[in-house]
Amino acid sequence: MHRTPLCDLLGIDVPIVLAGMAGGMTTPQLVAAVSEAGGLGTFGAAGMSVEGLQAAVKQAKSLTNKPIGVNVLLADPTPPRGDAEPVERAVEVLRDRLGVGRSEGSAASPSGPELVKAGLAAGADVVATGLGDPAPVVEMARRHGAPMVAMVATVADAEQAIASGADALVAQGGEAGGHRSNFTVQDDGTVPIVGTMALVPQVVDAVDAPVIAAGGIMDGRGLVAALALGAQGVQVGTRFLTTSESGIPDSYKRRVTEARDTDTVITTSVSGRPARGIRNTLIETMDAVEPSNLGYPRQQAATGPVRSEGMKRGDDELVALWAGQAAGLARSGSAAAVVAQIVAEADRIVRRLGAGD
Ligand SMILES: Cc1cc2nc3c(=O)[nH]c(=O)nc-3n(C[C@H](O)[C@H](O)[C@H](O)COP(=O)(O)O)c2cc1C
Repeated sequence: MHRTPLCDLLGIDVPIVLAGMAGGMTTPQLVAAVSEAGGLGTFGAAGMSVEGLQAAVKQAKSLTNKPIGVNVLLADPTPPRGDAEPVERAVEVLRDRLGVGRSEGSAASPSGPELVKAGLAAGADVVATGLGDPAPVVEMARRHGAPMVAMVATVADAEQAIASGADALVAQGGEAGGHRSNFTVQDDGTVPIVGTMALVPQVVDAVDAPVIAAGGIMDGRGLVAALALGAQGVQVGTRFLTTSESGIPDSYKRRVTEARDTDTVITTSVSGRPARGIRNTLIETMDAVEPSNLGYPRQQAATGPVRSEGMKRGDDELVALWAGQAAGLARSGSAAAVVAQIVAEADRIVRRLGAGD
């Protein structure tokens, strides 16, 4: 019932895209389950090694014959602000709490284009980008015949992404969990925020390409609303965090399902770029030293040892609990059930609206 031209472009049956989520959320099981259910499963490849990504893509491909995507982040670095010392002291307090040492400076992560090359070589079918102009990976995607989906958060960035060769756009509204996908960060480290309801129709009007709505979409109501705004599909992150296949600890899943509408904040202090997550000790401690900030990605590297140890231990106070404003609508269950429920509920709503009840 909700098949759109986007489905033909991506080779999928229902217009639901699993957001590529960096940080271990998008396991091969989750990616394959969403694709197998008719949507598009996508790996959040940022921070993975080339070998790790290739093994994950191959594993997902062994679980489904349907298309899968690889998402990378193409953010420009941002300049430091204020003194480095308060940031380093705050991180040290958190490291002491976990008993972890200073980072030895782990090997630099591969770049976005390196990860796209690796993902395509391993069999990925769709390329997706966030946080920056997709230009560096457009040619590579084209050579492989892979559709190129760029995430944007403003109309100006949407126009730029299309000029650079994107085949489709994700319009990410301010409700979304994780990093803001604005291409440019202002001098004070912030970005303009436009809500999903306002952004989607303006992007739809500005470009001649399929638009996928993202930010706060959790169920069939969200899918119908997105289609009504002119989008051809939805990209969903937070709703999939709490599924059985997602790679986060139970404590993180619990914080998502228990979140109230006001529990998330946008903070620049965890990574150096603005991102939305559930307020906890990590965010409060790092926010307390703003506006001192090492800039992106240095701030991200500085908090990295705390975040990864917190994730390993399931300590929900010392991880980045990235999640969107509608987090409290998330429930446990399988990823296939989420896709099926979104579609079934959307069908019911459209029938009801059509009947004029
Ligand atoms: C935990 C988490 C990690 C994310 N990581 C990425 C990422 O690596 N790349 C990306 O393009 N977007 C990432 N996002 C943002 C999503 O692409 C998407 O915009 C967002 O999840 C949509 O809003 P929702 O969370 O309300 O569904 C992430 C979101 C979350 C919640």
